[in-house]
Amino acid sequence: MITEIHIEQALKELFDNIVFTREPAGLYDPLRYMIAIGGKRIRPRLCLTTYGLYKESFDQSILQPAAALEVFHSFTLIHDDIMDRSPLRRGVPTVWKKWNEDTAILSGDVMNIDAYKRIACAPANVLPQVLKLFSDTAAQVCDGQQLDMDFESRTDVPMDEYMQMIGLKTGVLIACAAKMGALIAGASETDCEELYAYGYNLGLAFQVADDYLDAFGDEAVFGKPIGGDIVNNKKCWLTTHALEKAGEAREELLEALAMPAETEVERVMKIATVKDIYTDLSVDEDAKYEILRLNNLALEHAAKICNGIRYEQLRRFADKLVGRTK
Ligand code: IPE
Ligand code: IPE
Ligand code: MG
Ligand code: MG
Ligand code: MG
Repeated sequence: MITEIHIEQALKELFDNIVFTREPAGLYDPLRYMIAIGGKRIRPRLCLTTYGLYKESFDQSILQPAAALEVFHSFTLIHDDIMDRSPLRRGVPTVWKKWNEDTAILSGDVMNIDAYKRIACAPANVLPQVLKLFSDTAAQVCDGQQLDMDFESRTDVPMDEYMQMIGLKTGVLIACAAKMGALIAGASETDCEELYAYGYNLGLAFQVADDYLDAFGDEAVFGKPIGGDIVNNKKCWLTTHALEKAGEAREELLEALAMPAETEVERVMKIATVKDIYTDLSVDEDAKYEILRLNNLALEHAAKICNGIRYEQLRRFADKLVGRTK
């Protein structure tokens, strides 16, 4: 049985020893920087966890595809930080801030390619399915990121459209990670699909938690600037739910969301004003329930395909995500 300790060791070795082409440094230094500062690495961890439901040990045919998920994810973050004008990630300056936008674009591109090279290490018998899963997922993440930006200029985004958007920008990659581990382990189609649904719902819970922490987290722990979504007019879960719930406070909320955020003083004012309305409407508390609801949905899918110690592994993984503070 592959335990959480084995998975942690495998991840540590994998990312401690990961090699990127060394030259030109201007292209590859940002890759090394992103991977070295590390993140929570939930996607490769999930991929190894679902693989471990079926197999007794790891080899490169699962470790490299698992690494691909993290490299791809880190690429999306580099580009996302340009799009969201975010100066801080994982507690350190973002790539576009530390270097510049041109470097961030090209280093992101080469990371995407590096991810595909690692995906190609999947066993030959499942490689076509793994490649299709990964490519479909990568395209969907782009769809979601475009919707996320389109929504910035709208104030009429219904909750179901928001859910669809986060399903694309965040849900599908976590779903892909869960399914890929099972696919490479040779699991049945039913198991693969239930694990995909488990990952998808976990991904939704994860993004709602990210939206909550963006407004109510602790910057020192979260590693990203608090209030970034408010400054960028993002239709995050809190905004979307608040706009639906506001009733008489709707005009006040719309005015707060339309406040300028050019200068530091304006940003501080806008963030404080919007957050006050969120807490008055209790949307912060509602977000916590929503995270739990989505987490439970994920576990219903897990329960369809396993029980006992295998189910416990999936439950523990989900619980850690729900309790996230970073
Ligand atoms: C950040 O992902 C982007 C979202 C999908 C919310 P993570 O929260 O997994 O970021 P890292 O990799 O741990 O930094
Ligand atoms: C990003 O969503 C999702 C992807 C990068 C695909 P966010 O924009 O909310 O992520 P953070 O908050 O910057 O990590
Ligand atoms: Mg974004
Ligand atoms: Mg962002
Ligand atoms: Mg966010």
